[in-house]
Amino acid sequence: PSAAAETEVLIVGAGPAGASAAALLASYGVSCIVVNKYPGVSNTPRAHITNQRAMEVLRDLGLEDKAAAAATPQRLMGEHVYATSLAGREFGRLRTWYTHPHFQAEHDLASPCSLCDLPQDLLEPILINAAASRGASVRFNTELVDFVQDADGVTALVADKVTGAEYGIRSKYLIGADGGNSLVMEKLGLPLVGEMGGGGSVNIVFEADLTRLVEHRPGDMYWFLQSGAGHDGLGIGVLRMVRPWDRWIGVWGYDEAEGRPELTEDDAVAIAHRLIGDDTVPVKIESVSIWSINHVYATDNMKGRVFCAGDAVHRHPPMNGLGSNTSIQDGYNLCWKLALVLRGQAGPELLETYRAERVPVAEQIVKRAGTSNALIPGLFQALDLPAAPDEHTMARAVAGLEEATPEGTGRRRAFEKAMHATLIGFNAHGVETNQRYRSSAILDEGAAEPPAPRDEEVYHHASTHPGRHLPHVWLTRDQRRVALFDLCGKGGFTLLTGPRGAAWQEAAAKAAAVLGVPVRVRTIGLGCDYEDSYGDYGAVCGVEEDGALLVRPDHMIAWRAATSAGAAGLGSALSGLLSR
Ligand code: FDA
Repeated sequence: PSAAAETEVLIVGAGPAGASAAALLASYGVSCIVVNKYPGVSNTPRAHITNQRAMEVLRDLGLEDKAAAAATPQRLMGEHVYATSLAGREFGRLRTWYTHPHFQAEHDLASPCSLCDLPQDLLEPILINAAASRGASVRFNTELVDFVQDADGVTALVADKVTGAEYGIRSKYLIGADGGNSLVMEKLGLPLVGEMGGGGSVNIVFEADLTRLVEHRPGDMYWFLQSGAGHDGLGIGVLRMVRPWDRWIGVWGYDEAEGRPELTEDDAVAIAHRLIGDDTVPVKIESVSIWSINHVYATDNMKGRVFCAGDAVHRHPPMNGLGSNTSIQDGYNLCWKLALVLRGQAGPELLETYRAERVPVAEQIVKRAGTSNALIPGLFQALDLPAAPDEHTMARAVAGLEEATPEGTGRRRAFEKAMHATLIGFNAHGVETNQRYRSSAILDEGAAEPPAPRDEEVYHHASTHPGRHLPHVWLTRDQRRVALFDLCGKGGFTLLTGPRGAAWQEAAAKAAAVLGVPVRVRTIGLGCDYEDSYGDYGAVCGVEEDGALLVRPDHMIAWRAATSAGAAGLGSALSGLLSR
């Protein structure tokens, strides 16, 4: 078609991946059009756990306060109760999402941002409003039908679903953020590995005031061993808090082999009542939807001028809450690169690093979520329950847990072990915070990175080794605390140096002039732009007072030099990582 519209980047999809990419590109001054085949943002809460790295993206966008105001805070998320129902016998509890005092410190040390519970139907408007108010053109009711790419750009055919009219959009690049049934992935023929359809779940969104059952043990999810909850899907009955304490999602499994269940409103109310364990509680059903558990990731996420992000390239169970978080971080990796290439400040090869850096993350998170999900059946096995226990078998198993006999002791120990094993599904702090990049946009030091001292899936590892995320520390300026994070980002490169770093000012000015890429220099230490009042920066920076860290716009360490002797190499380091 002849193009009726032109833009630098066309984004297909306005979910967490597309909306965050649009907000980022618009903030970087890149023109973009977002198309979404639906009339509006997500109409159900869907994803909700918003981890520290995703909150950092929102912070960099200036949206953290808005997001935190709409979210349920971490302190109300941590009591995960395992029971027969909300009103029923409690078997035990886990302290999740880093609310255990030991892990709370780990959480607070890893980022200036706090994890929170932000339902997708509240997150998406924040992102898409920011995108639109910063210049992105947002087109709802507009579906991508087809696209072709050539040496200079991409021509897409879209359909206006209101009028039925089709028209063309010409762009330099296209981002397929079109979710789990991605047309963009299909058209590109990008390879996906793994399994789709690993069990079905029913999500029932409802209103019910459950304050009296939860406010003394606040958590964002409550887990119920019940007959009928199904070994498929999540394999366990779940009540998920959407808004404390009167909006909820009931999650119930079903056997996909028997087809999609058709639930009436009465069926939905009955399930809600079973999960609550009290059928006198007034329940108002909002919606019922069906979703499948998938374990799939793409082994390639781009072709030419087209990139895929979000569920298009990684689909997995909700354990660990990685879906929308990873989708947002995909865009955070890609968008600054697009901005630099579009401005002619970087060579197009820089875009290839999106593949090298994000494909391993997709693989890791899909495997993590799958492994976590596979721990749920262990709860049933610990009680010697079959895959789909009937009510009688379930009641007998529950009674057996309370028996004052040696067999009872054995059952209690086995159940407790199985329950604690599931904690990794809510406490994989390292998976969330340690994403480590290896690509041509990270300048390898030659020497191998020393191994992390603790399990990298579980614990955050603060390091300034190139490819790592800038560690979090608090600095001060004018007696006020400032997060190191805030010295960097906003689409630009930052060079961090210490009190004896004068040589870096000159080196940065020169490199910026030669390459036409601004590099802001920030000095840290006594007598500098920022003070290292707590000594935390000095302890973690890994370079001398006259050394420097080069931080990418996405807060990843691109390069570092131990002393000012490295200053002469800044220009070539920068031109190398920009593929110039
Ligand atoms: P997402 O699917 O959110 O967005 C895709 C976008 O592309 C939509 O805006 C859609 O309209 C658009 N689109 C698709 N094709 C198009 C076309 N041809 N033209 C134009 N637009 C097109 N996760 C979790 O952690 N906890 C949970 O409880 C749940 N629950 C849940 C329930 C249900 C019912 C679903 C479907 C998913 C979940 N998830 C979840 C997963 C989570 O919602 C998911 O990981 C993120 O939404 C992924 O964000 P994306 O932006 O990649 O895709």
